[in-house]
Amino acid sequence: MLSDGTADRFDDTPPEQPPRVKDPCVFVVIGAAGDLTKRMLTPALHNLAASGLLPERFAIVGVDRVPMTTDEFRQRIAQAIEDSEESPFDHRVWGPYEGRLHYLIGDLREKSVGQQLRALLSGVDEKSGTAGNYLFYLAIPPSLVGQTVTQLDEASLAREDGPGWRRFVIEKPLAHDADSARALNRQINSVIQEHQIYRIDHYLGKETVQNILVFRFANGILEPVWNNHYVDHVQIMVAESLGVEQRGEYYEEAGALRDMVPNHLFQLLAFTAMEPPISFEAEAVRDEKLKIFRAIRPLSHEEVLTHTVRGQYDEGLINGERVPGYRKELRVASGSNTETFAALRLHMDNWRWSGVPFYLRTGKRMPRRVTEIAIQFKRAPDILFRGTSINSTPPNLLVIHIAPEEGISLRFDAKVPGPVVRTGPVNMDFRYRDYFGTTPSTGYETLLYDCMNGDATLFQRADMVEAAWTVVTPLLDVWETLPARGFPNYAAGTWGPTEAASLMQRDSRRWRHV
Ligand code: BG6
Repeated sequence: MLSDGTADRFDDTPPEQPPRVKDPCVFVVIGAAGDLTKRMLTPALHNLAASGLLPERFAIVGVDRVPMTTDEFRQRIAQAIEDSEESPFDHRVWGPYEGRLHYLIGDLREKSVGQQLRALLSGVDEKSGTAGNYLFYLAIPPSLVGQTVTQLDEASLAREDGPGWRRFVIEKPLAHDADSARALNRQINSVIQEHQIYRIDHYLGKETVQNILVFRFANGILEPVWNNHYVDHVQIMVAESLGVEQRGEYYEEAGALRDMVPNHLFQLLAFTAMEPPISFEAEAVRDEKLKIFRAIRPLSHEEVLTHTVRGQYDEGLINGERVPGYRKELRVASGSNTETFAALRLHMDNWRWSGVPFYLRTGKRMPRRVTEIAIQFKRAPDILFRGTSINSTPPNLLVIHIAPEEGISLRFDAKVPGPVVRTGPVNMDFRYRDYFGTTPSTGYETLLYDCMNGDATLFQRADMVEAAWTVVTPLLDVWETLPARGFPNYAAGTWGPTEAASLMQRDSRRWRHV
């Protein structure tokens, strides 16, 4: 113990096991034969079961148009867990749940399917004691969300006007611009209440993203320097080495900006920039995040041209392997003008960040997969080193590594040993796995657990989604009115178009070299 009574080293007693979800419930997956159920939801449920966190009284109901029997559905789910690298299949864990899996063939746009689902759910309640609590996970295309919620309502499954709660998890993309975000919210909110809606962003399921708040607000040394007095600028990057894979059709409509910025990158931005909330209650945290989206200075049409850059990958080399250009990908138009790279400079009109630019960059087919937030501090005055061989001291840099490395590093300058005063940058590194090891996770476990517990802290509220889309809509408008010239403009395996470098150079800065 230190003199102030605190421990002087990392406390390695095993963390307290969180409690099992208290409320019984049925997890209803609409779109149960799809990819999301297979790759993410099923392994995540298995991991929750393995940690003893699923409620005692629990059942899973799958709904999809794909014809299969309940037995086939059970086998399919077991297979999905076996195939998943993030969830080592354990029959002792999953065995007791297998009999609690049910399947309904049908399209919820048909009235009769809603009625069938209702009958199935009451049977499940009786058999499994799930008390009428239903968590509907809408693993379906966004265009079907509004209609599905309406159909569930027609089957008296949506409103909380009887015993039991009803919750709805909705996946991105939640809209394609500010107007459609508002329209979807209006449609859903006309049927169910805001507290029933859980808009998911899988970035918030990542431990390192959740850690940003703990890092910022549980460490007294950071708050005094976390502002425009000390921070020069912030860079947020989500780079992927993958291309669009099998998702050409979706991506042609979305593009890099819609796919990544108002959701994932803005979540990272909000956690980095928000004020300390008055508590970790859902509304307190979400209020502060909303303020950040509202504080982002809207870009005029002229500014869109100078503050943003778009790009599209051409063929190139990734890890020494030749890969095709975007226009040659499956289900992509041969003359497509869809961007696969976006970079932007944003400013926030609030006291903390006034004058501090936030540079955001995301792209496919970059040399490596890297997700990180880099906070670059202002340089120290170099008065002492004038007239020495040291021309300038590099600024301190704090990097929050989100993927593939998970950790935090701080770069500072140190004296190079020897009689002559020379300095060089060194790093202090914290890596998650060194301290905490790794546990199998898809990133959805916390989100599902929270949702079953009714904790909406890590989910998006309607006003947040609208505010985020309001920021990016002017960019989309200008980009649509002035189609990109010169696409493709970066080779696969590079860090994006040269204009992205110029965006920084104009501010006498450069992108962090990873
Ligand atoms: C998804 C996007 O939401 O996030 C994909 O639609 C992207 O295009 C993915 O590849 C990135 O997620 P992660 O967790 O791999 O960084």
